[in-house]
Amino acid sequence: MMSEKRIILTRDDITKMEVDAIVNAANSRLLGGGGVDGAIHRAAGLQLLEECKTLNGCPTGSAKLTKGYHLPAKYVIHTVGPVWRGGNNNETDLLKSCYISSLKIAVDNNCTTIAFPNISTGIYGFPKKQAAEIAIDAVQDCIRENEFFKTIYFVCFDQENYKLYTDILMSDE
Ligand code: APR
Repeated sequence: MMSEKRIILTRDDITKMEVDAIVNAANSRLLGGGGVDGAIHRAAGLQLLEECKTLNGCPTGSAKLTKGYHLPAKYVIHTVGPVWRGGNNNETDLLKSCYISSLKIAVDNNCTTIAFPNISTGIYGFPKKQAAEIAIDAVQDCIRENEFFKTIYFVCFDQENYKLYTDILMSDE
């Protein structure tokens, strides 16, 4: 685990994180899926899906809040990352918007500790290095501007992402 001020990088399963909110890399239907979405729904239980059904989906780049149910986290912030289509379809701005929208919902719901997965870098195919840079820049900009957050975790499930985040965060120190 590595920390730089209020950012902590950890290699873990996000469903185990005891934080105010974990962020889910969902799809626009918000009805579950594979990857981290599947893991979160399995760990939270069926009530999560029932609440998601009331949300009428979520546009790419936006985010919506639900309770965490059986998760150790109090809330789940579901955000929808862009599918990588070569880089000329506004993917960078949409991915950045996922982090910013999730952080805003966290502030609005008094979540001072939040954990992010590596959004869009699995099934959605976003190049991992670029995605890591976007994620870290968006979070660093946010905590530079305000003192609200206690800890923001980047939770890497795979070693490749963990190494990329480590290299970027070390170079920023
Ligand atoms: N904890 C933390 N990170 C995880 C976990 C987990 N339990 N499981 C997977 N991941 C990581 C993957 O290793 C990847 O780095 O989450 C990152 C995002 O990968 P995906 O879950 O595939 O999400 P994404 O690429 O954003 O694609 C979203 O996949 O699951 C479906 O419904 C989802 O359609 C949506 C699409």
